[in-house]
Amino acid sequence: MDYNLKGKSVFISGSTSGIGLSTAELLVEEGAKVIINGRSEISVSDAIDFIKTKYPGSKVSGIATDFSKPLEIQELIKRLPDIDILINNLGIYESKTFFEIEDNEWYKQFEVNVMSGVRLSKYFLPQMLKKNWGRIIFISSECASLVPNDLIPYSMTKASILAISRGLAQLTKGTNVTVNAVLPGSTLTKGVSSFLNQSAKKSNKSLKEIEDDFFLESRNSSLIQRFASSTEVANAIAYISSPLSSATNGSVLKVDGGSVGGIL
Ligand SMILES: NC(=O)c1ccc[n+]([C@@H]2O[C@H](COP(=O)([O-])OP(=O)(O)OC[C@H]3O[C@@H](n4cnc5c(N)ncnc54)[C@H](OP(=O)(O)O)[C@@H]3O)[C@@H](O)[C@H]2O)c1
Repeated sequence: MDYNLKGKSVFISGSTSGIGLSTAELLVEEGAKVIINGRSEISVSDAIDFIKTKYPGSKVSGIATDFSKPLEIQELIKRLPDIDILINNLGIYESKTFFEIEDNEWYKQFEVNVMSGVRLSKYFLPQMLKKNWGRIIFISSECASLVPNDLIPYSMTKASILAISRGLAQLTKGTNVTVNAVLPGSTLTKGVSSFLNQSAKKSNKSLKEIEDDFFLESRNSSLIQRFASSTEVANAIAYISSPLSSATNGSVLKVDGGSVGGIL
């Protein structure tokens, strides 16, 4: 599909694997110049090699930055060129009961999941407004609304992102810049897949049985009753990143398989 993304420059946080990497793949395939990111030089160069091998001639580069370290973010910003599309994809979580979570874990998830996007947007939004074109996309989660008992800090960060995304969109009024959030449901990334494999081994069940159990017990509201692939989520991110989505601003695009519910 032609999303009119040829030549657009893109930065995607947390994109050496999972949804971020699938998004990078789709965007380079569309002719965009993509800068990927992860914490280490090795993971970044592996991801670049992977994309270059799969899409010869693609315009992909990368910068290693750990978003839990504010000084590294300042360095990153100094190295980044002009960006047309900023995808605030990075998100970390830890499954724990509320009573086990130490104060510093709340702050860490806030720093990484929320402040990464805040700091990058604060830098790039004025430039986008000046050239009167740009896209900022925040990746939220179904957990912003479902709030699983073992993921309360994560859900707090993902709900915050929705407010920030809407607030920033309001600053774009009357321009060709848009700010939107994409809200994925449970998605089969490498991390999720190895967790499912371990559970299957432990309980002597097939992967399909583990998936069915998860949707029955933990995501009963899902209408698709299966994990989305990271490419299915990336398809929505590519659309909202593109000039084709010009009338969508301040919005939330759900790719949750219906889990959040509601008619809007
Ligand atoms: N997977 C799901 O079921 C799901 C559902 C709803 C929403 N989401 C959201 O979608 C987004 C992507 O999720 P995902 O599951 O694709 O993620 P993932 O597979 O866990 O992605 C890991 C990526 O994050 C990078 N990363 C981790 N900590 C980092 C840090 N401190 N600084 C910089 N990079 C860091 C990793 O880089 P290195 O390892 O190379 O350092 C890697 O590129 C997140 O915001 C997540 O909350 C995911």
